[in-house]
Amino acid sequence: MHKDLEKILLTREEIAARVRELGAQITADYEGRSILLVCILKGAVTFFSDLAREIKVPAEFDFMVCSSYGDATDSSGFVKIRKDLDSDAANKDVLIVEDIIDTGTTLSRLKPILEDRGAKSVKIATILNKPSRRKANVTVDYNGFEIPDAFVVGYGLDYAGRYRNIPYIGILKESVYKARIL
Ligand code: XMP
Ligand code: MG
Repeated sequence: MHKDLEKILLTREEIAARVRELGAQITADYEGRSILLVCILKGAVTFFSDLAREIKVPAEFDFMVCSSYGDATDSSGFVKIRKDLDSDAANKDVLIVEDIIDTGTTLSRLKPILEDRGAKSVKIATILNKPSRRKANVTVDYNGFEIPDAFVVGYGLDYAGRYRNIPYIGILKESVYKARIL
């Protein structure tokens, strides 16, 4: 285990097995159609590349970078799109692929933006979900794992830009973010 971790929450094997299940479910649900897979950079990149290879219907890839400015007490946060899609979402079945849904602010704002562009459907897949932290209402169509309210890293998720390449998901030691080692 990485020295900055408190414990491993999800092993490589557990993640891979769940991603295969999600891919099979998505393949069945979208049978006869094609998907526009939208990766929310940077955190979702590992999940995105694993999930995409488990989806057996035709899929286009596109990428977005968003920043959310959440409010501490309600769901009035907004989302700034820092890098938009290259493709047109109109008349497409869009599947947004996210690393973690925490307060829900990001996706509760992003989903209607893509719907307003005329997407045929917009669904959400996430590898991690922290329902206990939810402030904004979001329907999660494909949910990898529900996790407790702890700060997690690995499998694409970072703290201050670090730990994204750890191949499993772990809880970061409190001493690491208290010390603010960069
Ligand atoms: P909201 O609150 O809009 O935000 O659902 C989702 C974003 O918050 C970040 N986030 C985390 N990142 N470990 C991380 O590395 C965590 O435990 C964590 N919780 C939230 C993440 O950027 C996600 O896209
Ligand atoms: Mg993120």
